[in-house]
Amino acid sequence: MQTRIIKVNSKNPNLSQIKQAAKTIRSGGLIVFPTETVYGIGANALDSKAVKKIFDTKGRPADNPLIVHISDVADLGILADNIPKIAFDLIGKFWPGPLTIVLKKSRIVPKITTGGLDTVAIRMPKNKIALELISHCGTPIAAPSANVAGRPSPTRAQHVIDDLSGKVGIILDGGPARIGIESTVIDLSTKTPMLLRPGGITLEQLQKVLGKIAIHPIIHGRKTKTIHRSPGMKYRHYSPMAKIILIEGPKLKVSKKISQLLQLYKRQGLRVGILGTNIKSDMTITQKNQEQIAANLFRSFREFDAKKIDIILAQGTSRKGLGMGIMNRLDKAAYRKINV
Ligand code: TXA
Ligand code: MG
Repeated sequence: MQTRIIKVNSKNPNLSQIKQAAKTIRSGGLIVFPTETVYGIGANALDSKAVKKIFDTKGRPADNPLIVHISDVADLGILADNIPKIAFDLIGKFWPGPLTIVLKKSRIVPKITTGGLDTVAIRMPKNKIALELISHCGTPIAAPSANVAGRPSPTRAQHVIDDLSGKVGIILDGGPARIGIESTVIDLSTKTPMLLRPGGITLEQLQKVLGKIAIHPIIHGRKTKTIHRSPGMKYRHYSPMAKIILIEGPKLKVSKKISQLLQLYKRQGLRVGILGTNIKSDMTITQKNQEQIAANLFRSFREFDAKKIDIILAQGTSRKGLGMGIMNRLDKAAYRKINV
């Protein structure tokens, strides 16, 4: 299959380009499109055959459910049943944006889309190209990140080309994704809301609206009997090919450890990359720093791979705010962790 890359202006998308892509989705095909978090590979969420193509193209395990993207809150009622009031509180505050909510699914949503679960994950992305595409399709779009399963999520069209060239017909190139890590996933299908994946909207932001939120144990790396509630988290995602050594602790000690290990591995003839923040030891990490780290994280993974780096020495960051999502990605990608 020939892959066509169509550059689209993300502020003012050309509607004939969007309409062409929408037609492909309506006729059961796949389209790669940008969102504010990462690029997605989408199909008509209500068409089992089309959704199956996503799983095949990515090599994604069938029990890992997809997020359904909508452009109009009215579509929520079509996709989900028993929607609690708190869902609307969150939607009012964070949609469009990097928040995915899990609700009881309606009968219209095929099981293949939800990985066999009786719940459905839904979000409204904050990206004009994505929103126009969904609204022109007239159908919700199921879309996971547009990487080959196990690779870091793509934050630029080039990353998608590197992974899926020849496997997908059209890539809409809307430039670099602004946020750079995936959406936050929160489960509202049970009594107490549960955070399933930290991401672009922070736990602190959610707590301000909801009060108490349970945190799925796997986020803290603990084994759990409730893994079925967050199927995607059990897979070791986000990984570059290089081995990541994650180093956490006081800034000065971390830098010292990094220089030590750098010397050691270099002597062994290995190619070593350093993933740090360039923040001076006496400075605290600001929200702006964290936004930059998130925006560049997956791109750095891929650049290290392109340079055939063997080992990445990664400096840990605060686990507060956006740091929870950043550290979750690093935790999952890490081959070894060191606390100094
Ligand atoms: O930012 C994002 O969310 C991006 C863009 C493209 O929207 N999408 C994305 O999709 O990251 P994906 O497939 O890579 O991750 C979806 C996550 C997985 O961890 C999956 O287990 C979880 O959402 N998920 C989907 N449906 C679920 C459900 N019904 N119950 C629990 N978790 C669900
Ligand atoms: Mg993914």
